[in-house]
Amino acid sequence: MKFGIIGCGLMGREFAVASSRWPALLNTSVQPEIAGICDVNEDLYGWYTDNFDSIKIVTKDYKELLASDDIDAIYCAVPHILHADLYVDIINAGKHLMGEKPFGIDLEANEKIMAAIDANPEVFVRCSSEFPYFPGAMAIQEFIQKNPWGQIISVNAGFMHSSDLNTDKVINWKRMINVNGEYGCMGDLGMHGLHIPIRHGWIPKNISASLSNIVTERPDGKGNIVPCETWDNASITCEVDHPQDEYSFPMNIKTYRIAPGETNTWYIEILGTEFSARFSTKNPKTLETMHYKTGGVQEWRREDLGYSSAHETITGGIFEFGFTDAMLQMWASFVEEAANPSKELPIYGCIRPEETLMQHKILTAALKAGKGKETVVFKK
Ligand SMILES: NC(=O)c1ccc[n+]([C@@H]2O[C@H](COP(=O)([O-])OP(=O)(O)OC[C@H]3O[C@@H](n4cnc5c(N)ncnc54)[C@H](O)[C@@H]3O)[C@@H](O)[C@H]2O)c1
Repeated sequence: MKFGIIGCGLMGREFAVASSRWPALLNTSVQPEIAGICDVNEDLYGWYTDNFDSIKIVTKDYKELLASDDIDAIYCAVPHILHADLYVDIINAGKHLMGEKPFGIDLEANEKIMAAIDANPEVFVRCSSEFPYFPGAMAIQEFIQKNPWGQIISVNAGFMHSSDLNTDKVINWKRMINVNGEYGCMGDLGMHGLHIPIRHGWIPKNISASLSNIVTERPDGKGNIVPCETWDNASITCEVDHPQDEYSFPMNIKTYRIAPGETNTWYIEILGTEFSARFSTKNPKTLETMHYKTGGVQEWRREDLGYSSAHETITGGIFEFGFTDAMLQMWASFVEEAANPSKELPIYGCIRPEETLMQHKILTAALKAGKGKETVVFKK
């Protein structure tokens, strides 16, 4: 499958490297090849062209990739303000699309993308989100399918960063409302926290949110101090009706840019009356579980998981799984499903467009709740 990459920054490079690790995968039917790259910043081209002989098109104009018959699919990893225009053009050009979250800067932008998807049913479209491919996260998803919790007491999930604690850190587009969007940290990190809840039908019936802008100005790297208006931290609290059983439970989703000590920490914890489980990328090979019987001991069990994956690889089970493995697994899911449209991967398939729409509805309600200091009744 010949890919064009639009947006050659942080995430574009990760995909390019994942494509060259493809021999690690044992049972995939198709291999991605980087056939073209596009970025407005020419300085980024050299790393790609030095490392990937397959690249035939290098351009500042993404429409050149869309016009090429040598490109089957696009990975688009650009700032949020550009998602709607570029994703719609990509889909209308008939290219399969892996788009980055939040899949539109806001709900209105997401709806434009959804309309293009509806108008082009032959195009395969998914959204990137890699953390659920960690073995511990896969184990949690398998538990969710079996529903072993007794009654769920609470679900806690989220994504944490800490580099913004440094007030000397120079502002970038993710801290600018006009480029990143009004969601602030929720737009950038929310899909990560919501991936597993949405996939498994844990949809809020009401939402409240606490939003904080802790660092209100930052250096611009040119000697000036400029406003930094985006939300740094968001705690979203929801009430969720259990999808199968007759009760509701609280779900707390945190997206923090300022969580002291945390570096790219993605976590999910489900506490139940009979069974609890949690996984965090802070301890990337450790799965924690607790079985509880009335009157018995309350003892968390910690298990070091070896390497295991949704798509089989050459890597031995005695080794550890990491971020780049999660990227490879996510890409394997995308390429397999794009190449074999009838082969839907129920748990391990990438985020579907309708799930990005649900994410936007939740984040839009959380923004309203947080700004208005109210509880918003959530309608699907
Ligand atoms: N899945 C993840 O874990 C993850 C992590 C980080 C970022 N992201 C997402 O990836 C996307 C990009 O983020 P990033 O961190 O890679 O940003 P980045 O700033 O490192 O890269 C974005 C690139 O887009 C380029 N660009 C801007 N306008 C363009 C245009 N008109 N045409 C072509 N290129 C253009 C920029 O020059 C830049 O190189 C965002 O949607 C972000 O939310 C996802």
